[in-house]
This record gives sequence, structure tokens and C-alpha cells, in this order.
Amino acid sequence: MNRPNSIQPATGRLAVLLPGMGAVATTTIAGVLLARKGLGQPIGSLTQLSTIRLGRRTSPRAPKIAEFVPLARLDDLVFGGWDIFPEDAYSRAIDADVLRREHLDSVRDELEGIRPMAGAFYPEYVRRLMGSHTKSGRTKADMVGQLREDLRRFVRENSCDRAVCIWCGSTETFTSPGRPHESIASFERGLLESDPAITSSQLYAWACLKERIPFANGAPNLSVDFPAAWELARERQVPIAGKDFKTGQTLMKTVVAPGLKARMLGVRGWFSTNILGNRDGEVLDDPGCFKTKETSKLGVLDLILQPRAYPELYGDLFHKVRIEYYPPRGDAKEGWDNIDLFGWLGYPMQMKIDFLCRDSILAAPVVLDLALFLDFANRAALRGTQEWLSFYFKSPMTAPGLRPEHDLFIQLMKLKNTLRWLMGEELITHLGHEYYD
Ligand SMILES: NC(=O)c1ccc[n+]([C@@H]2O[C@H](COP(=O)([O-])OP(=O)(O)OC[C@H]3O[C@@H](n4cnc5c(N)ncnc54)[C@H](O)[C@@H]3O)[C@@H](O)[C@H]2O)c1
Repeated sequence: MNRPNSIQPATGRLAVLLPGMGAVATTTIAGVLLARKGLGQPIGSLTQLSTIRLGRRTSPRAPKIAEFVPLARLDDLVFGGWDIFPEDAYSRAIDADVLRREHLDSVRDELEGIRPMAGAFYPEYVRRLMGSHTKSGRTKADMVGQLREDLRRFVRENSCDRAVCIWCGSTETFTSPGRPHESIASFERGLLESDPAITSSQLYAWACLKERIPFANGAPNLSVDFPAAWELARERQVPIAGKDFKTGQTLMKTVVAPGLKARMLGVRGWFSTNILGNRDGEVLDDPGCFKTKETSKLGVLDLILQPRAYPELYGDLFHKVRIEYYPPRGDAKEGWDNIDLFGWLGYPMQMKIDFLCRDSILAAPVVLDLALFLDFANRAALRGTQEWLSFYFKSPMTAPGLRPEHDLFIQLMKLKNTLRWLMGEELITHLGHEYYD
């Protein structure tokens, strides 16, 4: 791929559209509104807080990422979205019980002004929810048509110049790509026939790609990760990314596992369990939806530790992941990891991690960064799968047949080098031989 000759400036307003206005979406929106007023800091967001080193270590320049690349400003974001429940973002945020009342009340008017558009929803893919605020259409093609109309209307009525879309909807039941997912033509046919292999989230992704709106998927369901969508994204020149926000336990796994492997320490067992009590936890209590999440969480260790390349260290690894729905905890999840590892001469050791995290507090900066980076990618004329955004995902999308990179620090290097490359700066390889010449 060639470096773009020019990157369009971030002028005007950017619509940030979130299908699924639950805990993650409302925490993101409220956080951005609070940050705009100087009432909160966007902690966890690279686009808002991180610097990027440019040039040599002897005379480094280190601008903020937001000063180095042309990103949309928080003041220029206009939030909207869809849900299968009609309540506005304020009342959904109160229900989600993530942010304190005093925080929400400081931006109450703006949150109340954000009302979800009716969702495109087929309950067979999320069995635990029964929504009332839904579209009806004769076929799935009809649903895509209605979503496209929503997109155009939102952009027009809010005087936006551009839009991006991040799936913050529930995790759908486990499905694999089938016949309709093979090509653009077969998917269009599947839409007309309302093929059961096409899930609700895929309708949003398809509508966005048709409208040339970048799409990222925060859940582990397919949404935009199948051959027909890759093809459409390339044809329409739209950037896409996914899947499944990397936030709590998996974030820690992709920090600790590369560390153990870097030192050639063996791992015999890794048992991960979680308790959480938000609506996401309730949805994941359904075995079909849990399987989608489990697949996403399980893939990480194998790809980092490479048991086939290191059979003496990881050949017998037993990896188990559980999620238990436990309402008293709400969004304040607890994730335990027990790691059975071994060192010199095979002597056993154990490591315990108990991460008392907050799901949506960790996910909100990811949503914001993805919105800003995807919009930037679009203005830089990048298209198709954006692997440099793997940093944000548990199951990074890649080119077909390419092994995803899960190591958080390699992902970060890739992200920053992509920004350097796009802006015509020298890449940083960390070789450093020039300091000793
Ligand atoms: N919070 C995290 O740390 C984290 C990490 C990784 C992935 N995720 C994923 O992000 C998603 C959002 O998480 P959450 O905690 O906000 O969940 P949530 O249950 O609070 O919100 C999801 C919302 O999606 C809505 N919805 C479901 N199907 C829809 C459809 N077809 N159209 C429109 N709306 C629809 C639901 O009504 C609900 O309001 C989930 O899929 C979750 O698995 C979250």
C-alpha cells in the first residue's frame, strides 16, 4: 500500500453513531460531554493523552498524538445511535449505574437530547432481550434500506460533514460465516431472502459500508468480519476494524502472557473467571452468546504463546474462561486469573491476578479512540481492515490467513508507527545502533 499523498483536514462536525446505547455507549458519551466542559478527564484515551516520540532519542520531539495527526476535536463530535429500548441517553446511563449522579446531572440536558433511533433487531440472535423500540421491514434488505435512511437523515439534520459507527450493541449468538457471507452478490441476495445466517449487527455494518461510513465492531460477533464485508469495504473505500473491545481481563492477559513468553517461562494452566452483573452479563448468560465471547477470549493465549513452536513450554496448556452473571456487582466486574507456570528445570510457580475493574470505564476511551482514528483513517484514504487498530481488540481482524498480533506492546508500536508513516515521519524500530557509531 502506498502512503497517501494528502490527508483531508478534520473540518466540520463528525457524527459518532453507536448501535446499542447501553452502558458502554452512554458512559462514552457522558464522558466526552464532561471532558468538553472541563468536568472530567478522558483517562485511558491515547488520542487525548498520549504523546508520540518522533526522531532520535538524543533530540526527541514528543508532541501529543492529537497535535501530530489531524483528529476531530471533542467539540466537533455529535453523538447518536440506535437501541431496541426507547429511553434517552440520560435515563439509560442512570439505569446502567456506571457514572455517579453528580456527573450525569452536569450534562443532563445534552444526554436527554440523545434519543436512540429504532433498532433493527431479530431476537433469535440475542435471546435474553425483548425490545419494543424496533423497526419492522418485509426483508432484511428493507431493514438495511431503513438504516441507510437513518444515517443520511442524522448527518443532514445535525449538519455533520462525516460519520463513523461503532457497534456497542449486545453480543450476538455464535455464528460462523455461511453462504451469504461469501461475496457482495451473495450477501445482497441473502438480504432479499432474509437469510437466517445474516444477523442484526451485520445489517448495520452493511448499511454503513454502503453509505461509505467507517465501521468498528466492539462485540465478538461477526458484524463486519466476513469476506463479503471485506470486499465491500475495499470497493467502497471504507476503513473497518474489530472485533470485541480489549478492556479488562484480556487486556491484562495480553500484557502478562507476552512477558512470560519473552522470558521463556512455561505455562501449564490458565484459569480465568469473571463475575459481572450488568445487562451485558445477563446477555452473556445465554450459552449461545457466551460461546461467541468465549471464542474471542480463548484465541488470545494460543496466538501469543504459540504452543506448536514451543511444545516444551506451552504444549500442555489448559486454558479455561468463565463468565458468571452476578447482579449485585453491576458494571463493577471482578476478573480472577490463576496462572500455573513453571521455570528452570520445570519447577512450578503460581500467579494470581484479581482485577477489580469497571467494564464501561475501561471501554469508553476505546470507543472514543476508535471513532477518532477511524475518521482519520477515512480522511487518509485507508480502506478495508485496519490492522493497526488491533491494539483495541480482543480478536483483531486481519487480512485472510494472517496470524493476528495480540501482544499489547507490539500492537502499540504498530499503531504509532502507522501514524508516523502516514505523516511522513521516520519509523522507530528501536534498533538504536546509530547512538554507538
Ligand atoms: N464493557 C466492556 O468492557 C466490553 C468489552 C468488550 C466488549 N464489550 C461489548 O460491548 C457491547 C456493549 O456492552 P454494554 O456493557 O454496553 O452492554 P449493554 O447491554 O449495556 O448495551 C448493549 C445495548 O445494545 C442494545 N441492542 C442489542 N441489540 C441491538 C440491535 N440489534 N440494535 C440496537 N441496539 C441493540 C441493547 O438493548 C443494549 O441497550 C457488548 O456486546 C459487550 O459484550 C464490552
